[in-house]
Amino acid sequence: MKKNKKALRKVYRSGKYLFKDFGNDVNEAKNTLALLKMFRASAGTSVIHGYSITATDAWHNSDKSSCIMMPCHNGVTLDNLPGEAFFDAVITVSSWLASHLDKKDLKERDYIHGDLHAGNIILLEKQKRIVFIDALCREATPRNIWLDLLLLSVSIALKLDSRQLKRLQHRLFGDIILQKAALAKRRLMMRQALVLGRFFLRSENSLREKLQALHALMLAVKNFHLMMSYQKQPVS
Ligand SMILES: Nc1ncnc2c1ncn2[C@@H]1O[C@H](COP(=O)(O)OP(=O)(O)O)[C@@H](O)[C@H]1O
Ligand SMILES: [Mg+2]
Repeated sequence: MKKNKKALRKVYRSGKYLFKDFGNDVNEAKNTLALLKMFRASAGTSVIHGYSITATDAWHNSDKSSCIMMPCHNGVTLDNLPGEAFFDAVITVSSWLASHLDKKDLKERDYIHGDLHAGNIILLEKQKRIVFIDALCREATPRNIWLDLLLLSVSIALKLDSRQLKRLQHRLFGDIILQKAALAKRRLMMRQALVLGRFFLRSENSLREKLQALHALMLAVKNFHLMMSYQKQPVS
């Protein structure tokens, strides 16, 4: 009988470690570990607003080749943070993202997280650390950067009402984006990602709103590609 490999998968904690067991799928374990390591190497360690920011470490489990292990980070995922703590963590992570996008030379081979949403970012407040988990690690192509940014924005927008979202936009522009001259060409892209997150989540179900959102999406994608190819005139 054919075994269902997926059904045998599990994630569990034992002591200080978190284990990801892929049933019998040794290749999937190897692949997942390679991706985690690749993203960790690409992200490095940054210190922003006093927080040390890295991706989780992970390694092969010598007892079982279809299982990988990593430190269990005893913090709170961003989507579970209350009010102001959420706000501050978002600002710090956005700062991290902005400086990484800023640094990336698009001709060089580089990587992005691949599943960057608030549930995959853990804040360890006492240790002043922020850790990315569950990286799927994708090559930093314009399309993949865009998708990561959009996913993060949407997961942030989910937690905020319109007033808070507006406040966040102001802070992101004032504190992060405007201060970095090199980011200017990507400013529009970031704003659009935030606005889109808001559109999709806050829009009423009316056709008019949905069409507006779709229109914004088309423009955003066009502008994004223009910006990535360093052309000057965005579409408006
Ligand atoms: N290294 C880690 N430390 C602490 N929590 C983790 C770690 N890796 C994953 N988790 C948490 O374990 C849970 C299960 O993870 P996972 O199986 O990857 O599923 P999911 O798709 O829900 O993220 C998630 O809630 C995730 O936040
Ligand atoms: Mg996850």
